[in-house]
Amino acid sequence: MSKAIVIYYSRSGNTKEMAEIITKAMNDADLPTECKAVNDVKAEDLLNYDAIVVGSPTYYGHMAGPIKQLFDDIVGFHGKLDGKVGAAFTSSANIGGGNETTIMGIIEAMLIAGCVVQGDPQGDHYGPVSIGKPDERVRRQCMRRGRRIAGLAKKLSI
Ligand SMILES: Cc1cc2nc3c(=O)[nH]c(=O)nc-3n(C[C@H](O)[C@H](O)[C@H](O)COP(=O)(O)O)c2cc1C
Repeated sequence: MSKAIVIYYSRSGNTKEMAEIITKAMNDADLPTECKAVNDVKAEDLLNYDAIVVGSPTYYGHMAGPIKQLFDDIVGFHGKLDGKVGAAFTSSANIGGGNETTIMGIIEAMLIAGCVVQGDPQGDHYGPVSIGKPDERVRRQCMRRGRRIAGLAKKLSI
């Protein structure tokens, strides 16, 4: 059976809150999913999951350092994440504060690793974005994304 992990970095709790909502939606959609802070994850752990979801606060329009370090550390087994589902989300302070470039940076690393990333024609296109603390709109986007990740993971495991 497929299983998944949601990994986040968060200093003031906004990205963590998003991670928890996405994790719940994935579990509710019958994809067993763990939620872990990036400091509690070793790069090799990623080999154990079929879907990998990564959230970072937007720092100068990019992922935060600890998330980048996690991606840098997967070079030791480059190619072994090929075909896994990938997805990303972020929290930033400002609209137009570099949130979508942050998500795209994470997705770019995932694509290089061989992950399968699904966009969303109706919801937040690249991945959920929160401006500060998640509000009701963001909660809906996180739940929607969690359901879609679970749906894709199931399709790919057939
Ligand atoms: C070092 C640093 C850089 C940041 N850079 C940006 C930025 O470029 N654009 C932006 O909108 N917010 C920026 N922020 C604000 C955070 O992205 C925002 O507060 C976010 O919600 C924090 O997430 P967290 O609560 O999960 O730690 C920055 C914050 C820090 C500490």
